Amino acid sequence: MTASNYSYSSLAHLGPQGRWRRVLLVAVVPMLCGFIYYAYASSFFPHTAFKPSQYPYQHNVSLPADDISMATVIKALYSPILHPVDAANFTDEDGDVHKLPGEPRFKEKLGKRVLVLDIDSRPLTNDGQLMNEELKWKGMRPLSAGMLSHFMFANIHGYDYKFIRAPDYPDRWGTWVKVPMMKEALKTHDYIVFMDSDVMFHYPHLPLEWLLNYWNMTADTLAMMSIDPDEPQNYDTKGNRYLNTGFVIAQQSKRTQEMYKAWAECPSETRYKGCGQWKVAWAHEQAAFGNYIRYDFDRPDDIKVLPCVEANGAPEAVNRGGCKGTFVRHFWVDKGLLAKGISDSVMQYFVPRLHQMYHQEASEHIIDKKGFKLVGADMVPMTDEEKEALKKDEGKNQKDEGF
Ligand SMILES: *[C@@H]1O[C@H](CO)[C@@H](O)[C@H](O)[C@H]1NC(C)=O
Ligand SMILES: *[C@@H]1O[C@H](CO)[C@@H](O)[C@H](O)[C@H]1NC(C)=O
Ligand SMILES: *[C@@H]1O[C@H](CO)[C@@H](O)[C@H](O)[C@H]1NC(C)=O
Repeated sequence: MTASNYSYSSLAHLGPQGRWRRVLLVAVVPMLCGFIYYAYASSFFPHTAFKPSQYPYQHNVSLPADDISMATVIKALYSPILHPVDAANFTDEDGDVHKLPGEPRFKEKLGKRVLVLDIDSRPLTNDGQLMNEELKWKGMRPLSAGMLSHFMFANIHGYDYKFIRAPDYPDRWGTWVKVPMMKEALKTHDYIVFMDSDVMFHYPHLPLEWLLNYWNMTADTLAMMSIDPDEPQNYDTKGNRYLNTGFVIAQQSKRTQEMYKAWAECPSETRYKGCGQWKVAWAHEQAAFGNYIRYDFDRPDDIKVLPCVEANGAPEAVNRGGCKGTFVRHFWVDKGLLAKGISDSVMQYFVPRLHQMYHQEASEHIIDKKGFKLVGADMVPMTDEEKEALKKDEGKNQKDEGF
């Protein structure tokens, strides 16, 4: 099997044919007109205006020839620009630079040691839901977008992915099932990433390992969760803010198993007096964790609290305590934003590539008629003097993106 080489290059690497160099293009117009014209084809960017690429790390990637499987499509889009797991920094879409706090612990990809986990006890078989035989973009339900994005994230980085159809507790609110299911998953995988279906990674090309380095997951960390916004309903009985259990990164260890056991058994009240109330009362398993478990598993490294701005909320929720979901978006603010979320996680990569292609092939489709003037229905070549004079009132009858 042959392999075709595939590489993403920024505009800055365009060959000379893509620059301001004039390419003389002879176009034959329909014989009726019977005239031949010259056109300039060029990139719109003078090379002094080139900006550094938003994807500083670019890799050559081989793809199997004649393979149009979805796995290959995903690889073609993301692999050329994957961020290295141990990169010293990451620049986000707003230009903010996030630097590792120190020497990275994770320098190699973890691959299948990581499990990206969806857990649900509902059938999800209605129109627009994930387990329906058919799913269209139009009418897709929000949670389908979330879970598909988790699946895609795992595929991009070679992590394991599982959807666990969970059994229900007869006497507890549905979300409680995630506790014993995460506990199970931590028997087979070293790291699990559990996300509610309204949670997604905003930069799918940024590997989990990088975030583990950035958030300083140590060998002793049991779990990482984000703090909730500073609002009255998010406080526990001791006056501390809840950790949001909709996004959890947990690390396998004996102590992690003990913590999950204590958590799942919390409502039995053998260990934690009063926990039974959270069986059905809001915030369910989150309240049990917030009121009891975190105070019981309180070694300095046990629970790593992630900032709300980075791992909770969404830009639309920035007025809720600044929780704008820089790395991990949690769309409690509006579930209707999930479809836009998965669209962002494709289009932020697709569009620069399309744009790159547009300019690489510019000589074939950008036709420059600026050397002509319009007289009635005709295009008449301008003299050099006319061109000079024209520069003076450039853009007179145009406005930016206006119509
Ligand atoms: C990618 O391939 C191109 C063309 O074969 C080569 O010039 C370039 O050095 C390669 N880049 C890397 C990072 O291997
Ligand atoms: C990010 O890291 C790279 C590689 O170490 C370095 O060249 C670059 O200057 C860093 N950027 C910033 C803004 O710190
Ligand atoms: C990471 O966490 C460990 C343990 O809490 C701490 O000793 C270390 O200083 C932290 N590293 C950085 C760079 O913050």
